[in-house]
Amino acid sequence: MKIAFYSTKPYDRIWFEPMAKEYGYTIEFIDLPFAENTIFLARGYDAVCIFVNDETNAKMIEQLVEIGVKAILLRSAGFNHVDMKAAKDQIKVLRVPAYSPDSVAEFAMGLLLACNRMIHKAYGRTRDFNMNINGFLGTDFCHKNAGVIGTGKIGQAMIRILKGFSMNVLAFDPYPVKGLDVEYVSLEELFEHSSLISLHCPLTDDTKHIINAESIAKMKKGVYIVNTSRGGLIDTDALIDGLLSQKIGGVGLDVYEEEEGIFYEDWSNRIMQDDNLARLTTFPNVILTSHMGFFTTEAIQAIAKTTLDNAYALENGLELVNEVKA
Ligand code: NAI
Repeated sequence: MKIAFYSTKPYDRIWFEPMAKEYGYTIEFIDLPFAENTIFLARGYDAVCIFVNDETNAKMIEQLVEIGVKAILLRSAGFNHVDMKAAKDQIKVLRVPAYSPDSVAEFAMGLLLACNRMIHKAYGRTRDFNMNINGFLGTDFCHKNAGVIGTGKIGQAMIRILKGFSMNVLAFDPYPVKGLDVEYVSLEELFEHSSLISLHCPLTDDTKHIINAESIAKMKKGVYIVNTSRGGLIDTDALIDGLLSQKIGGVGLDVYEEEEGIFYEDWSNRIMQDDNLARLTTFPNVILTSHMGFFTTEAIQAIAKTTLDNAYALENGLELVNEVKA
């Protein structure tokens, strides 16, 4: 099996390189993203391996089929970046459905704690020996309502953490999970009664802009919102309005709706053209990170293992348990 591995970052090699040897696979590590003008690099390979922001449209799928590529191996759980309708019956798409749900949930809680208690700002002050704590007044999470949207693997890990903080958890999911220590409520009720809201649902037509002006209007004043799922779940203009009006008390964002082409790159010496992103970074109570909730040793190792297991199953005609179907 020969795999063209796009959007390679140094950490990808840590597990993929030694594991590929064990499987006897050849991996060509390519630093460039998977894009219309880089597809030609996959000629002669059996599969391409792509990351979350490697948008794959119908034309690109057609080109892959033309050059004989049989599979798209996703190094992610989410697959909203691949045109699945176009892929149907043309090319196999295999994903990593779970690698470490805890990595993302723990990170979500970290963002919430930081933006509530202004830990990121406090760090800057004490580093300058400014020991003043004015402006850092936070709120207890203990005994308050937390709203979890999406109670799948990461949502459930988040629920365990929130329960550890003695929070009462309200949840919304069109497919409720039996036996969870939560109260399933309607989205409206969740918006109305939650002091913090954590998003753990996939990005679909139903969930796009699930956080918008209308839903923000229903929320409690001072609500904390954390999104470690997909940027498109939040209407950024509405979020900024909610922050300006101080309806929203704080926001943690590990994802952003226009993150493609920006996240995972060094922009520190370039002019940021995305006004909303630039605006978000000006709020003291907003913490923005570059889609790194998954980024733990455990998760990276599991991503490599499942990706190569997927390739192995494909090569050997085994059941494709992680196939994404349109
Ligand atoms: P999962 O598939 O286990 O759970 C998703 C849950 O969302 C399911 O229970 C599903 O029923 C529910 N859902 C579907 N439609 C919904 C709707 N309209 N409203 C509310 N809930 C809905 O997925 P998992 O592993 O928990 O991942 C959740 C999301 O986290 C992924 O879709 C991905 O976008 C994101 N993610 C982010 C990472 C990061 O590094 N920041 C890493 C991994 C995943």
